[in-house]
Amino acid sequence: MPTRADCEALDAADPLVGWRERFALPEEIIYLDGNSLGPLPKATAELLDEVVRRQWGSGLITSWNRHGWVDLPHTVGAKIARLIGAGAHEVVVADSISVNLFKLVAAALGLRRGRRVVLSERDNFPTDLYVVQGLSELLGHRIELRLVETGELESSLDQDTAVLMLSHVDYRTGRIHDMARLTAAAQAAGALVLWDLAHSAGALPVELNASGVDLAVGCGYKYLNGGPGAPAFLFVAERWHDAARQPIAGWFGHAEPFGFQSEYRAAPGVHRFLAGTPPILSLKALEAGVDLLLEVGPGELRAKSTQLTELFIQLVMDRCAGHDLDLASPRDAQHRGSQVALRHAEAHAIMQASIARGVIGDFRAPDLLRFGFAPLYVRFVDVFDAALTLREILADRSWDRPELKRQAAVT
Ligand SMILES: Cc1ncc(COP(=O)(O)O)c(C=O)c1O
Repeated sequence: MPTRADCEALDAADPLVGWRERFALPEEIIYLDGNSLGPLPKATAELLDEVVRRQWGSGLITSWNRHGWVDLPHTVGAKIARLIGAGAHEVVVADSISVNLFKLVAAALGLRRGRRVVLSERDNFPTDLYVVQGLSELLGHRIELRLVETGELESSLDQDTAVLMLSHVDYRTGRIHDMARLTAAAQAAGALVLWDLAHSAGALPVELNASGVDLAVGCGYKYLNGGPGAPAFLFVAERWHDAARQPIAGWFGHAEPFGFQSEYRAAPGVHRFLAGTPPILSLKALEAGVDLLLEVGPGELRAKSTQLTELFIQLVMDRCAGHDLDLASPRDAQHRGSQVALRHAEAHAIMQASIARGVIGDFRAPDLLRFGFAPLYVRFVDVFDAALTLREILADRSWDRPELKRQAAVT
């Protein structure tokens, strides 16, 4: 079993070791929750200071043109496109994943008229399911959200399926879907496919165009390190640009927003998927996070993230044996994203005890401890120390206190 000295040696040899310095991470904590909220890049704080004081403070409204604010949904979208195997003109930054799903599911239904089913899996992230439920209600239940178990996805595709909507990486377990295979299966049934990249963009190589994907969404606040509530992005394959329509027909998606005409006329290309005024400060923060990732190859990120999750699993299996902890993530690294989920009946209290000792992960109901291993700033010694902390908490039962069992609004 690897020792702490082994982990120090791994850090010394790690080609990504210097990247941690680019983040404003408190020294006393081990941050294993970048899959929920990425940490603050040092460059972001400096950039935002400049944007707030100079561009907003001095430039005022002239900055919409002078500093390219009006183009930011596209300029940042084009940068994100490089992380997900998309064309620069196929991605825009806008709104949240939830709102973008509404737009894209509606667009997919429009492109597949006569088909009434949105197919997904029962364990998909709730907002993805809620959005389709809301859309179904709005459409007088003319469409249906059909939820099946993961293993039944392909056999459930039929001539009624308008769109297969899935998360690339499962938010709980970290399981990676075979994007190319499921995309091909959906399209063979005549359906479109819509991928949620919340847990894959910026964490592992994603090849949307090479996989033939039609539509995708993803978020800015996790592995892209765009800050709390950072705007999301959406992808529409070029082949759908002319035909696709979305229902939130706002002025920023109009062909001529400053023509102030009373009739909506969709802008060309992916531009029509914008709705209202873009959040410039948040876009700038997201751009700084994305710029950082663009300096590193996705292959390098994936290689280290696999090593980190593998090491954590090995250490936990060895050091925490006999404490009723089960691995909920795939054991095979090829099928696992950048996180590890462990199942325990007292997962909430255990995670609270861990946070109290400076090891920050999160809890996902009903019984999962979730640890994210973002390779840009997590060190091998962090993995070692986190596994040891978990063992101490389980051994001394320091989690067994009423105050640690009370759940806060955000877990
Ligand atoms: C897979 C997935 N989709 C969507 C969301 C939420 O997206 P938003 O808050 O941008 O609507 C999350 C949040 O964690 C998520 O994990």
